[in-house]
Amino acid sequence: MALTKNQDLLLIPGPTPVSDEVYEALSHETYSHTDPRFVQAYKNSLDMTKELFNCQEGEVYVVAGSGTLSMEMALVNTVKAGEKILILSHGYFGDRFIQLAQAFGIETDVLSADWGQHVCLSKLRELLAQNEYKAVTVTHVDTSTGVEADLEMLVPIIKESGALFILDGVCATAAIPEDMGKSYANNPDYKIDIVLTGSQKALGIPPGLAIVAFGPKALQAREELGHIPAYYSDIKNWRPIMENPGRYFATPAINMINGYEAGLKLVMAEGLEARYQRHRQVAQALVKALAVYALEPLATADHRASTLTCVLYPEGVDDGKFRNFLAEKKMIVAGALGPVAGKAFRFGHMGNTTVEMLEEALVLIAQALQDQGVKVDAEKALEVFKSNLDK
Ligand SMILES: Cc1ncc(COP(=O)(O)O)c(C=O)c1O
Repeated sequence: MALTKNQDLLLIPGPTPVSDEVYEALSHETYSHTDPRFVQAYKNSLDMTKELFNCQEGEVYVVAGSGTLSMEMALVNTVKAGEKILILSHGYFGDRFIQLAQAFGIETDVLSADWGQHVCLSKLRELLAQNEYKAVTVTHVDTSTGVEADLEMLVPIIKESGALFILDGVCATAAIPEDMGKSYANNPDYKIDIVLTGSQKALGIPPGLAIVAFGPKALQAREELGHIPAYYSDIKNWRPIMENPGRYFATPAINMINGYEAGLKLVMAEGLEARYQRHRQVAQALVKALAVYALEPLATADHRASTLTCVLYPEGVDDGKFRNFLAEKKMIVAGALGPVAGKAFRFGHMGNTTVEMLEEALVLIAQALQDQGVKVDAEKALEVFKSNLDK
């Protein structure tokens, strides 16, 4: 994999750096959507998407759109107006399901965590015992807080209630396991029913694709709904195309599919387990290195994502000045949202982001802090980063 075309140190929580192989595939001549070469690329992409989610018993849908469309596809194909869902919210993107559900007349209960914390499991059990939910939505990694949902705990509790388990993987897919074939707590009924995602984060592909995997129970829910208030989002309209990508429903994003195929080949060549391990190791090393600068993650230690970190500033550091300093050096990080806006920055470290890029980032962060009079030791941070990667 090569990254020669990336001019910026793009370390926001998505979009993320794109490899040359993907850029080459994107810039491929635009074929007809019925051209056998394109049809084959689409088929390969769908096969690899199934493998990515271990969704052999279900169906996958890859269409032009963004993560928000995939959220909509997940919901509107399984839940109807008047039915109730429970939304587990670890921040801004968990909350997005509230407006989405409301747009379709779906009733909602929301279990929110304080920013940086995981939702309370006993409150979850209480809500599930007192209500009948058609589905529960869980954001795998909330991009606003860097909190990773604990699937080992959540899947059995939620599936015991009979609700569908809908997982928003936008900021996790291809970096953290999302295994739809896995039986949690050794119970064959305790499986993730839907994983939805977008192309622009840990997959290392530009924005532009909505990707949704439906397990058998989610597909059954779609059948039971009959007519749904959707057209482009209705998987029944897309099913013939997913079965045979040479057919037409709406013009596919030809070049994006080419790029997606190339990106997934890189993901599979690395190996899913190796990729998950790399993300875990890099994230842990990075958090330890940032601690040398007295920079602490917002997320509590047990629930830190390996894709991004929301990093709290020490007292007195100005957010605007800090990020502008970095931007002048072509290192781009994102501002924080909600209650931590101005008090933290969001640092993406997923997909094609390399160790060398992160080493450079650590040096630039030291300079940005020094610019505001904070004394830090970049050499020490680099030493801590490297020694934790070797473990
Ligand atoms: C966890 C999560 N869910 C959903 C979305 C929405 O995706 P998009 O912006 O691609 O529509 C995002 C976007 O960053 C996200 O991080």
